[in-house]
Amino acid sequence: MERLAIDGGAAVRSNKPRMLENDIFEQEELDALMEVARQKKLRRAEVTLEYEKAIADYFGVKHAIAVSSGTTALHIALAAFGIGPGDEVIVSPYTFVASDTCVLEQNAIPIFADVDPRYLTLDPADVERKITKRTKAIIPVHILGTPVDMDPLMELARKHNLWVLEDCAQAPGATYHGKRVGTIGHVGTFSTISGKITSTGEGGFVTTNDDDLFEKMWGYQDFARKRSLGMASKFHWGLPCTNYRITNLQAAIGLQQMRRIDALLAKRDANARYLTNRLQNVPGIQVLPKPAWGERVYYYYAIRIQPEMLGSDMLNFAVALAAEGIYDLSYLGTSRWIIPQHMQPLFVNKTGYGGTKCPFECPWYDGHVEYGPGLCPEAERACEQVFWLSSVNPLLQVQDLDDIATAVEKVANAFVDKKRAGIPIHYATNDQRDKIEFMERVYQK
Ligand SMILES: Cc1ncc(COP(=O)(O)O)c(C=O)c1O
Repeated sequence: MERLAIDGGAAVRSNKPRMLENDIFEQEELDALMEVARQKKLRRAEVTLEYEKAIADYFGVKHAIAVSSGTTALHIALAAFGIGPGDEVIVSPYTFVASDTCVLEQNAIPIFADVDPRYLTLDPADVERKITKRTKAIIPVHILGTPVDMDPLMELARKHNLWVLEDCAQAPGATYHGKRVGTIGHVGTFSTISGKITSTGEGGFVTTNDDDLFEKMWGYQDFARKRSLGMASKFHWGLPCTNYRITNLQAAIGLQQMRRIDALLAKRDANARYLTNRLQNVPGIQVLPKPAWGERVYYYYAIRIQPEMLGSDMLNFAVALAAEGIYDLSYLGTSRWIIPQHMQPLFVNKTGYGGTKCPFECPWYDGHVEYGPGLCPEAERACEQVFWLSSVNPLLQVQDLDDIATAVEKVANAFVDKKRAGIPIHYATNDQRDKIEFMERVYQK
């Protein structure tokens, strides 16, 4: 058995720089940025319109609006749907927190439905079980780049008169039965924060074919202005309003990124395929299956570990991989280590602004909601087993991918051997365990 680095052996990757997760920023992006600066037109103007046209063309939709983030994209969509106090919105527990907290910004109630354990995407059967007379919308999340099974959700939406907001932050370019995600529900939202498939540092956009939603969303991202009356006009709708505008600086970069999106996706796909080829027969881990209903893209590369075969939980596995030099333990406290959203302290404690329990216990809400373990067992299991292994950033080299695969192979084989030999595995420190198990302590309070 090859000695693991954590047991004192040689690391698979040592004396090499950290794996690259940088933005793709070439001469074209730099020139575009400089041009905006030269024109002294930094705020939202013509370049943003050009960027929005490029987005709409790529997705084959009537409208796109570029905004300040993927989170604010979610907000303007829900606002345009007219979601408000007393309404319920069905959300996913296996996602980044923004997909769920956007509902709270409308003073509405997020209701968690479980995920399909194969693809980690909303399970339509559980969504159906969660629908009540208060339900107004569903937010399917194409997590990791995997398309959600949209037809049954759209059918439920038609039957119960619900809005569908596709959170495509991790999935631009993925398709469902040949259609790009973000064009199937009433609105699609995307994020272009660094690390996403196209990047503008911070940023996001919405896509829609609905003229009315387009006008409303445009208004909500810019102080409830009417688009036809222009940028500096005053509050024409008399609606709650705010500022979620993007700048021309970001749009100029985004436009270049949209021009290279297919190449970026192809390189990510090639990187992911390389990893899959190397990892598919490693004992104790499974590569994630692809759904038959569409083509996924790769935002991030995740694997499923089999704790029974490895004789270890995911944290020991991560700590051993970190010692091999291919995993960064600072991910433990971040969104790269997914926790079930319905077990977040925010939801469990029903924390509202100003120390209230609003909107969870709002008088406008005639339902009752409690959050905590047991609500979505498949998502909870996935959070124990699905390991966000590595970026598939286009800048990664074959040598980087080989290091990742070799380390996973080495650690998995060693764990399986230890299990067979009856050697218990306790690599994780209490400190590391604390970083991922905080929600259990919150719940026990
Ligand atoms: C699934 C998902 N939804 C929403 C967001 C929010 O996007 P942003 O960070 O641009 O606000 C992100 C990423 O950050 C995400 O991964």
